[in-house]
Amino acid sequence: MSLRTFPATRLRRLRQSAFVRQLSQEVSLSVHDLIWPLFVIEGHEVTEPIPSMPEVNRYSIDQLVIQAEKAVKLGIPAIAIFPKIAPSLKDANGTLATDGDNLVCRAVRAVKAACPDLGVICDVALDPYTDHGHDGLIDDNGAILNDETVAILVEQAIIQAQAGCDIIAPSDMMDGRVGAIRQGLDEAGYQNVIILSYAAKFASAFYGPFRDAVGAGKSLGKDGKKTYQMNPANLAEALREIEMDISEGADMIMVKPGMPYLDVLREAKTSFQMPSFAYQVSGEYAMLKMAVDNHLLAEDAITESLLCFKRAGADGILTYFAPYIASRLVED
Ligand code: PBG
Repeated sequence: MSLRTFPATRLRRLRQSAFVRQLSQEVSLSVHDLIWPLFVIEGHEVTEPIPSMPEVNRYSIDQLVIQAEKAVKLGIPAIAIFPKIAPSLKDANGTLATDGDNLVCRAVRAVKAACPDLGVICDVALDPYTDHGHDGLIDDNGAILNDETVAILVEQAIIQAQAGCDIIAPSDMMDGRVGAIRQGLDEAGYQNVIILSYAAKFASAFYGPFRDAVGAGKSLGKDGKKTYQMNPANLAEALREIEMDISEGADMIMVKPGMPYLDVLREAKTSFQMPSFAYQVSGEYAMLKMAVDNHLLAEDAITESLLCFKRAGADGILTYFAPYIASRLVED
C-alpha cells in the first residue's frame, strides 16, 4: 500500500483544528500587501460619496490628508491618488495633465508634507484631463495617437515626480511609454522614482464605477479603449506586454483587473519573478461590497478574495477595501 494514498494519507488531518490549519497555511494576507486607491477633488472640507462605490468617497485635499494619516496609522504602506477634474478644466489634449500645480500635484505635496513615509503612487494617463475621456491624444478620426501621447506622458510623469510622487504608474497602455518615461525621469534627475507599470491592462467593463468616480469615459466611442487596452481573451499577449515593460525599465508590474485575471498574474509571476501587483478594480469592489451589504454574501468573501490574489502570486494588491482589511488584520 502506498503511503500517498488513503487510508495512510488523510488530508483532512491538517484541517481538523485552527492551530494546524494556521500552521499549514501556504500564503497569508498582511497589511503590508495593501495599496489604497483614493479619489481627490477640488474644494475644502469636502467628502463626496460615489454612488456606484458604496463607502468610497472623493475627498478635497485637506480630507485626503486625513485619510493618508489613517493609512499610516493602519500600517498601509502606500496610497494611489486619482483626481476628479472639473469638466470646465478638461480639453481635447488634456493640457492640465502637465501643469505642475494641478490637483493631483497639489494633493501629492500635501500628503507628502503630512506623511513623508507613506508611499504615494500616481497614474500616468490623460483620461482624467481629456474631454473625450481617452487616455491619449486623438486625431480627427478619433484614433488614439501613440507617440505623440507618449511625449506628453513623459512630462506628466516628471511633474508628478517633482511634486514628490514615489511611484509612477503608467496606466495608459501606449506602446513604448515605460522606456520613454524612464529616460525622461532619469534626465530630469529622478533616477530613484519607481515605475510600477500597468503592464497587462485589459479593456474591461469592470472599470465602470471608477469612470463614474473620476467623471471620465461617458463618450469613448464604439471601440471604447479597445485599441490600446488588451483583449480579455489574450494571455500570451499579456506576457509579451509585461516582458516589454520589464525590458524598458519597469521596476514592478501590474495585472488589471484582478479576480477574473488571476491566471495572468500567476503566469506573470512564474515567468518573470518580478514584484507583481494586481488591481482589484472598482467593479470588483462594487460587486463584493453590494453583495455583502445586501447579505447575499458573508463578509468573509472580501478577505477570501484578497487571499486568493496572494495565492495567485501577488506581492501586493490595489484595493478599495484596504482600510477595511487593514483594520480587520489589526484586530486579529
Ligand atoms: C485610467 C485608469 C482606469 C483605472 C485606473 N486607472 C480606468 C480606465 O482605464 O478606463 C481603473 C481602476 C478601477 O476600475 O478601479 N487609465
